[in-house]
Amino acid sequence: MKYIIKNICCIGAGYVGGPTMAVIASHCPNIQINVIDINQERINAWNDDNLKNLPIFEPGLDALIKKCRDINLHFSCEIEKHIANADMIFISVNTPTKAKGLGAGQAIDLKWIDATARQISKYARGKTIVVEKSTLPVKTARTIKEILGSKNSDRENYQDKYSEFVVLSNPEFLSEGTAINNLQNPDRVLIGGEDLKAINSLAEIYSNWIEKEKIITTNLWSSELSKLTANAFLAQRISSINSISALCEATGADINEVSLAIGSDRRIGKEFLKSGPGFGGSCFKKDILNLIYLCNHYGLREVSDYWQKVLDLNEWQTQRISKIVVEKLFGTISGKKIAILGFAFKANTNDTRESPAINICKELLDEGGMISIYDPKVNVNQIKSELGAEKYDFSNNLDGSWRFAETIIDASHNADAIIIVTEWDEFNNIDWNTISKIMRHPAWLFDTRSFKNSYEASDYGINVWMLGNGLKEKIER
Ligand code: UDX
Ligand code: ADP
Repeated sequence: MKYIIKNICCIGAGYVGGPTMAVIASHCPNIQINVIDINQERINAWNDDNLKNLPIFEPGLDALIKKCRDINLHFSCEIEKHIANADMIFISVNTPTKAKGLGAGQAIDLKWIDATARQISKYARGKTIVVEKSTLPVKTARTIKEILGSKNSDRENYQDKYSEFVVLSNPEFLSEGTAINNLQNPDRVLIGGEDLKAINSLAEIYSNWIEKEKIITTNLWSSELSKLTANAFLAQRISSINSISALCEATGADINEVSLAIGSDRRIGKEFLKSGPGFGGSCFKKDILNLIYLCNHYGLREVSDYWQKVLDLNEWQTQRISKIVVEKLFGTISGKKIAILGFAFKANTNDTRESPAINICKELLDEGGMISIYDPKVNVNQIKSELGAEKYDFSNNLDGSWRFAETIIDASHNADAIIIVTEWDEFNNIDWNTISKIMRHPAWLFDTRSFKNSYEASDYGINVWMLGNGLKEKIER
């Protein structure tokens, strides 16, 4: 028993909506998919003939867009029309943490979800399955249902007053940078809901390319809570390994060796044991804050304190880096030139949300550093929106200013220090001989991602500090 789905509408053309719909479109040629957004500029970028101008960078995404766009995958701002025609509507809008009001700093701001539910309620026709894709607080499905179910005066003038809704939760577990691969071959697909026919309809879509055994169905609240819990567990692993990285630096142990040793225990597993400058991205912090809010709401103080520590440790890890840099550069970086390699929160994405690079740069700017930032995929405007205007001046020393660099070489000219923040492959292939010649000595390399190749820098007279390892002499391995 299932409904026939011929038209899908996805509200929100962002990091989740865009790639998810591209993969569904490529596997379901008989379904027409319309991705809609209120942001015309973003939609124009999705429709750009030059695939290099797509609004998000994800390996493999351009090929899917090329294959499906204008055939069964369409991007537009025609919200009313495509909601009205849809048999199934995915909600993939932004769900940031609330900046003010009740629950500020912890709860998710449901402003965009609320607006979306109202749009659906106003324009949808006939039986419509509404699928929550965005990460949401537990019980949001109830809010959506209430908005959809309420008698809507906006609909009074609408031609077709009949509409009926089913709400499903289908959280997205894709990880940026590997989104297409994750969507093509997920560990599992989770569908939460109460209406079996609707659940079957969504499961049928996924079963076009995913084995049935991987499709897990649960009740609505389990599905919503599973998404928060999965992200909290992943973030907890990173905070755990990062806490040990500091201990490694203090004792002379090597964090990569410790990760390898503990990860070989199948009960622990190898994944997500890479220490770094702290986790970033749009999900981990937001979801843990949301979990904390939820626990406090239900009076579970010990549980909320437990998860708060994962966030505290993460913040501490990021702050530790700028402190070490200042300390090693003789206690002052005022007027000193520092190259930042990588501004995205992780490799293979142009996303900078919650990137550890933001706070590292801000702290170095506060200390008076002159920083040159290079990232292979993040553009200057994106950095401006995080750090303010570019004021760096080559001729005059302008303490606490930054500039955008076009290449690693450009960023490293006259630099007293280089900090590797993002684990882009390019940074593991740096020609340290050349770089050493253009830096100001004594020169430093601070590698927060412990690249093998970074050891080479010490052969060319650069002092090397590795996260989770400390000061490094070159050693044969
Ligand atoms: C995460 C979840 O992985 C995904 O399932 C969910 O849908 C969204 O949130 P994402 O934020 O895209 O995905 O990236 P992820 O690969 O999880 O990395 C998050 C952060 O943790 C990055 O800053 C990354 O550098 C850091 N990280 C990850 C580590 O520091 N060490 C690791 O071993 C893994
Ligand atoms: P995510 O990482 O969850 O995909 P993004 O911020 O990348 O988040 O994308 C969310 C998108 O949702 C944005 O492009 C935003 O313009 C869009 N959006 C927000 N509210 C609405 C709405 N009511 N109708 C259509 N699009 C919306």
